[in-house]
Amino acid sequence: MDNFYITTAIDYVNGSPHLGHAYEKVLTDVIARIRRMMGDRVHFLTGVDEHGQKVQQSARKRGIAPQQFCDEVSAEFRAMLTKLNVSNDDFIRTTEERHKRVVRDILQRLFDKGEIYKAEYQGYYSTRQEQFLQEKDRNPDGTWPEIFGDVMEITETNYFFKLRQYQDWLVQFLTENENFVFPKFRQKQVLEFLKEPLNDLCISRPKERLEWGIPLPFDENFVTYVWFDALVNYVSAVADQPGVWPANWHVIGKDILVPPHAVYWPIMLQAAGLPLPKGIIAHGWWSFKGAKMSKSTGNVIAPAAFVDEFGADALRYFFLREMSVGQDSDFTDLQFKARYNADLANNLGNLLNRTLNMSNRFTAGVVPAAGADGEPETELRALWEQTRAEVPQLWNGFQFHLALERTIAFVTATNAYIEKRAPWKLGKSANPADQALLGTSLATMAEALRLAAALLRPFIPDSVAKIHAALGHTPSADWAQECAWGGCLQGAKLAPSLVLFPRIQSEEKPPAKP
Ligand code: MSP
Repeated sequence: MDNFYITTAIDYVNGSPHLGHAYEKVLTDVIARIRRMMGDRVHFLTGVDEHGQKVQQSARKRGIAPQQFCDEVSAEFRAMLTKLNVSNDDFIRTTEERHKRVVRDILQRLFDKGEIYKAEYQGYYSTRQEQFLQEKDRNPDGTWPEIFGDVMEITETNYFFKLRQYQDWLVQFLTENENFVFPKFRQKQVLEFLKEPLNDLCISRPKERLEWGIPLPFDENFVTYVWFDALVNYVSAVADQPGVWPANWHVIGKDILVPPHAVYWPIMLQAAGLPLPKGIIAHGWWSFKGAKMSKSTGNVIAPAAFVDEFGADALRYFFLREMSVGQDSDFTDLQFKARYNADLANNLGNLLNRTLNMSNRFTAGVVPAAGADGEPETELRALWEQTRAEVPQLWNGFQFHLALERTIAFVTATNAYIEKRAPWKLGKSANPADQALLGTSLATMAEALRLAAALLRPFIPDSVAKIHAALGHTPSADWAQECAWGGCLQGAKLAPSLVLFPRIQSEEKPPAKP
């Protein structure tokens, strides 16, 4: 059994969760579920980033203590995970003692090794991004880009981490490990960034400016820079679990690849003498109806409300079917409903209904034995063999949108098979040959549904569990066996009926709750 450790970014708790946060957690969950299904010993970590200026400011605005503020918002993030059926094994908060201890240990180790020094800094600082700016960050007209918010000129003594001396090492590492960042074009962006000389990283904030952070172990007048604190969560969460670190994948958004995850983090680990993660997946961003999702403009959808209306699986399916990992996508109600109706209600849901209804009508709900394959069965079986070979390869390459397209194509083909065999006609015939063919077609459709469900399980786990229950089927723990076409449902007693994804009737009217 292989260990497989996967993490998400830890979300800032300065506001409620939105669809962008939800996507990342679902994407990571799908990978974790696939690896578990394949037999790996998976450790899946997610959590929240609770320190820093943004959180301190949001708490002040509410007039409550930062810890209380964090407790409240963190609970919302946790609730989102439950709602989305995310199967994380751990949830870390950066205000937890287990985390602070490891941050302090690493800082002390780097300080003792001479990797951290104290110096006076004079320059520009963005509160919104919590980072020091350089001349090259300005717009061509000399103003500061909007993303930096208010920019202040400050003079301050701080502690700096010697990033620059690791620049050549990092370039070499990335050149030798060309698949470190997925997708590949993002790895090129990291190397592009590294063409400019790196500045050493300011890793402290004076307490008079920012209180809400982890005090430096070697100077209590300063707290740790929020990124230096946050990145360590991947290690601190598993510090007492030997053999888990290094992570196989850090799943993050494209905005926090360069420099935090692809530059600071590998260098921090290398300097501290810790192994590097095996890779980083940088996903794209969701916009909503063509505009950036942003709390300040109110252009956000609360995932919880969405799940209440359509079900977690509908959202999970849409996320993975619609977005090609690494690219951006736009979220619109219209597109969501179109996919839901076409793929889930009319295709998968229809196959399930037909299977249950016809078996109940003609064979008392019991799956009959299949006879010899005719041409339609042979064709469907061939498509299955192709699909079952292709889909796991697409999963391995994070091409989930294509994997789902192929999976649903197999469902479409099964529905077409049913049309061809027309069991409702065969059922009316007393001819023994027709009766045998009826048995074959009912057995084949149930089997094809079971197999499609095996490929859909990591994406829509709840619905697949319901399909299994309706088919009277307990999935095999052995992945290859579960995917083998064979009469394993013969004699199974099927449920009378089950509506998994009620069709959304009108674009205006919300559907009945599934
Ligand atoms: N706290 C840092 C991450 C620290 S990781 C050690 C942070 N938090 S965040 O709340 O701003 O973002 C958390 C994650 O959500 C990031 O990976 C980010 O890319 C992702 N998303 C935020 N908005 C998003 C979209 N609109 N679409 C997709 N993902 C987005 O950054």
